[in-house]
Order: sequence, then C-alpha cells, then structure tokens
Amino acid sequence: MSDSRPIGVFDSGLGGLTVMRELIKVMPNENIVYFGDTGRVPYGARGRDTIIKYAKQDESFLLSKDVKMIIAACGTVSSVAPHTGALLPVPFMEVVTHAAKKAAEVTKNRKIGVIATPATVKSNAYKMRIMEILPDAEVFQKDCPLFVPLVESGWIDRNDPITVNTAQRYLKGLKEQSIDVLIMGCTHYPVITDIIRDIMGEGVTLVNVGECTAKAAKAYIEAHGLANPNENIGTHHYFVSDRMESFSDTASILMGSSITGSVELVDIDHFKAII
Ligand code: DGL
Repeated sequence: MSDSRPIGVFDSGLGGLTVMRELIKVMPNENIVYFGDTGRVPYGARGRDTIIKYAKQDESFLLSKDVKMIIAACGTVSSVAPHTGALLPVPFMEVVTHAAKKAAEVTKNRKIGVIATPATVKSNAYKMRIMEILPDAEVFQKDCPLFVPLVESGWIDRNDPITVNTAQRYLKGLKEQSIDVLIMGCTHYPVITDIIRDIMGEGVTLVNVGECTAKAAKAYIEAHGLANPNENIGTHHYFVSDRMESFSDTASILMGSSITGSVELVDIDHFKAII
C-alpha cells in the first residue's frame, strides 16, 4: 500500500516551519502542503474558543488540498485543541505527545522545564502528558509570549541584544530549578535554540518538538502503508493568510536554506469548520 497525496502541516505562522524542516529531513520524498496563518498570529495569547475555531478552519483548508494526514505544527493548537483532529477523516498528529515522551525518557533528575505560549502553559498539556509517564516528575512551566513576535520579526541572531535579554529574563527561574531537560513547547522557539542553549548551558537537554513529531509521523506513515511511492524529492507548497511578500525570505532563514516550492495567499475566513 502507498499514498502519493501530500501531508498537511499548519501553524499560526512561521513557527511550524521548524516542524516542516524536520519532516523534510526524515521524509525527503513526501509531498507537503504547509499553511501558516500569518494574518492571525499569535494564537497563544488568545482564548480557548478562538484557538479551537482557528484550528478547525486551518484543518478544513488542508482537507481541501486532499492531504493524507494533518500535523498541527503548533504547540498551542496541540495543547488546547487536539480534539479538533480526532474527528477528521484523515490521521491527525500533534506535537505535545511525542515531545513529552522524549523529555520523560531523557531526564535523569526528573526535573523538566516547559517553555511555551500562555495558552499552552495554561492548558497544562505537556505537564499532564509527562506526569502520565513519570508521576513523580517535577514540571516547571514558563510562558514566553514575546518569543513569537521576535521570531516572526526575524530578530533571531544569537547575539541579538533584545532577544538575548528577553530570553535571560524568561529563563532565569527555570535555571534556578536545576532542570535537566527543557521542552521548547512552542514551534517558534527552536529558531532561537542557540540563544536558549547559551543561557541554559550544555547540561540541559533541549527538546525540539518538531524533531520528535517528525520521527513519529514517519513511523506512522510507514506502519500504515501511507508512504509516497515516488522516491524523487517531494514537492512543497506553502500557503499563508497574510504578508506573502516577506514569507519566502523569513521562511528561508527558519528552514536553514532557500525554500523550494510555491507560496500562495489564502483567504482562511472562506474555510469553515467541517466538524
Ligand atoms: N507556534 C505556535 C506554537 O507552537 C504558536 C505561537 C503563537 O501563535 O502564539 O504554540
């Protein structure tokens, strides 16, 4: 069995590209459709009902592209609205489950940190998943709302004084808790991994949710006979809801190389929840 239809990936903006990058690494021959809701980013500062509504519209758009699987490459949707994926007519994957599993596997002192958007921290999704596996773990969470606009603005240089300063302020408390693992629970955050590592030190393992999720997606696709039979490099199509002109440049920075594939504007309000 095989399936040449694309994988659908979505995020509130550019952060999901850190997941896309990992997907391309482990499944270079898969076709992928990416939707970044750049007109409505950030999701993480919004209320639950709005996040659920946006997630349903994003999923509805991807279904219109005849995808074989949908990945919520957004920590906020994965934490607050994972149930929106459960009823879809295609398999759905979110980023919390596999990142929590990885953190529980690698911690030695059972002190785990989670940095994420305010909505994700409020949901306690990572914490609950970790504690299902390691009931005696101590989980310390910190919301870092300014990271998303800093990343979306491209202020990501390792020595950027504003971003470094902001990160120092956010991470101070977690450092004092002597955590040995830190989940970067928002998909925008791996873009500033160097800054976070410089502050936390080499003794703290940083978990990139995109890496864990891409490996899990590959395993799922292989186990369910959904792999693309075509072994050539896959095609990548990007859709955004605003600021299409600046997308390619910023996306190339986040992806680590020039993005290949078309970029198109989509009117996301046109897409209604199908469930
Ligand atoms: N990248 C997203 C996340 O993983 C969302 C950030 C936001 O829109 O606030 O949570």
